[in-house]
Amino acid sequence: MIHVEDLHHRYDAETTLALPDWQAQKGEHWLLLGPSGSGKTTLLHLLAGLLRPERGRISINGEEISALNGPDMDRFRARHIGIVFQRPHLLGHLSVADNLRLAQYLAELPQELARIEAVLGQLGLEGLLKRRPEQLSQGQLQRVTLARAVLNRPTVLLADEPTANLDDAHCEQVLTLLKEQAAACEATLVIATHDQRVKSAFKHRLILGDQP
Ligand SMILES: Nc1ncnc2c1ncn2[C@@H]1O[C@H](COP(=O)(O)OP(=O)(O)OP(=O)(O)O)[C@@H](O)[C@H]1O
Ligand SMILES: [Mg+2]
Repeated sequence: MIHVEDLHHRYDAETTLALPDWQAQKGEHWLLLGPSGSGKTTLLHLLAGLLRPERGRISINGEEISALNGPDMDRFRARHIGIVFQRPHLLGHLSVADNLRLAQYLAELPQELARIEAVLGQLGLEGLLKRRPEQLSQGQLQRVTLARAVLNRPTVLLADEPTANLDDAHCEQVLTLLKEQAAACEATLVIATHDQRVKSAFKHRLILGDQP
């Protein structure tokens, strides 16, 4: 489902990320571990096609995304990749419903209010469709971000430090939601973290920063 080969990326003189070979299958849940600066966020951005690798190949669902041009990459990302950034990325002047409609529109999917309502319902957010992001609590905001990430039933669900700044109860809740939502769309889930509390909850691990 995700296949990475001979991947190298650097922002300037030093190599910041080298990943010779990694595969994650459909529906698997992976933890991306490594010390601060080891390249976890960089790898998530490469997998999301937000960064282009300097060398190597990334395939998702059989599509070599590292070879796609800008507009094709944008289309592929909108349709196949759900991203939960550490800080919510929602458009502040749009309602929750319109933020989600926009995600369907950008993926060139039909506007489906029923799907929006279903996902918000699964995440305990029914009744918040008309609110703007600033009118939500932090926890609600994070769940709306997750709703937007899974709305289009992505092939791959990426989350960058989703539990940083959360207390134990909310940490547990967010992990459960990520796993449930990934399972509901049979997505491959990749979570970057250095949160100790998350580590016991996952079997598959990719550890960055220990290569020579
Ligand atoms: N836009 C950029 N330009 C130049 N260097 C960058 C840029 N973004 C990240 N880096 C560098 O690349 C390396 C990897 O950064 P990255 O953010 O991927 O690490 P990380 O593992 O996510 O760290 P953390 O756990 O602190 O979030 C770091 O040395 C960082 O300073
Ligand atoms: Mg990071």
